[in-house]
Amino acid sequence: MKAIAVYPGKPNSIHLADLPMPRVDEIPNGRGVLVKVLRVGVDGTDKEINAAEYGAAPPGYDFLTLGHESFGRVVEVGPNVRDLAPGDYVVATVRRPGHSIYDLIGTSDMTTDTTYYERGISLLHGYLTEYYVDDAEFIVKVPATLQGVGVLLEPTSVVEKGIEQAYEIQRRLKVWRPQRAAVVGAGPLGLLATLALRLRGLQVATLARTEPPTLNSELVQALGARYVSTRQLPLAQAAQAYGPFDIIFEATGASSVVFEGMQALGHNGVLVLTGISGGKRTAEVPGDQILMGFVLGNKVAVGSVNANRTYFERGVQDMALAESLYPGWLARLLTHPVRGLENYAEMIRLLTEEKSAIKVYVELGRDAG
Ligand code: BGC
Ligand code: ZN
Repeated sequence: MKAIAVYPGKPNSIHLADLPMPRVDEIPNGRGVLVKVLRVGVDGTDKEINAAEYGAAPPGYDFLTLGHESFGRVVEVGPNVRDLAPGDYVVATVRRPGHSIYDLIGTSDMTTDTTYYERGISLLHGYLTEYYVDDAEFIVKVPATLQGVGVLLEPTSVVEKGIEQAYEIQRRLKVWRPQRAAVVGAGPLGLLATLALRLRGLQVATLARTEPPTLNSELVQALGARYVSTRQLPLAQAAQAYGPFDIIFEATGASSVVFEGMQALGHNGVLVLTGISGGKRTAEVPGDQILMGFVLGNKVAVGSVNANRTYFERGVQDMALAESLYPGWLARLLTHPVRGLENYAEMIRLLTEEKSAIKVYVELGRDAG
């Protein structure tokens, strides 16, 4: 069967590879689930792996199958799988357990191991192929009503984790009633964070460089949030106008934004960092002021990576709520389909060059049903 793969460490090595058809009984304890892949979303991570910035092939292979944002349909289940059946729509999580105590309790997203295992990213093949098999533990059911947008569940899970971390941390306050949030970045993560915060009833200002109107700014406004171009109003000034911010969700990966965010955060506020740049930039920052603001304002900054199945389940709930409160909104994120695994060159071209793309995704044939 075909797969879109790269040779990790070799820039621009994207190609079509061949993999054997997986079998349910490859997974121990009768817990295997065989899934036919229907759609796979791609993002900056895939782009960076193809640029050989990181990524590792599974042991015994010189290539790594890409793709960690999956959507598919169950074909066959092992004898000990009770909660999934052939025909179910599903999304698989990305990270697999290592050895730390966090891995052992089902929270591998919090691993303290230095080596990590992520499908399509590090040491495990991804989902840009025709079928995959995995343990039922890592496969989350998606209701058929969400089949058109289910491919957005993985990025949604990353947002859910970040926000859940913020709420969990803020239990320190005994009473926390966040009212105002800022989201920095209006790509898929920033847009999904805007959605999740609106669904929790917050006033949201979403900041991005580009001046409106764009599809991104329209999508922000369609949620009743405010779109702010940082060319017109930088984060610090946006905090004066629309803050104080109880939450700032950073989704650009620009390190300069982190320090701006630290200053723009209100008293008792929490800054959630989800983006990374992989660069080596250094910056001069008003350290004394930031320090004083943090101490006298009881502020928190938290980094958040990946998501375990709890956040995928929460993502399903929010996506269902989104479909009823903002019908059709999620589907508008799916801007650039690529038909078939053979079109991997077009996939990577859209990912690297198409500025207007929100979500590029590969559509794999018809759903036979
Ligand atoms: C994925 C996460 C993953 C992270 C780091 C992101 O693109 O969505 O699941 O943990 O990259 O590899
Ligand atoms: Zn990703």
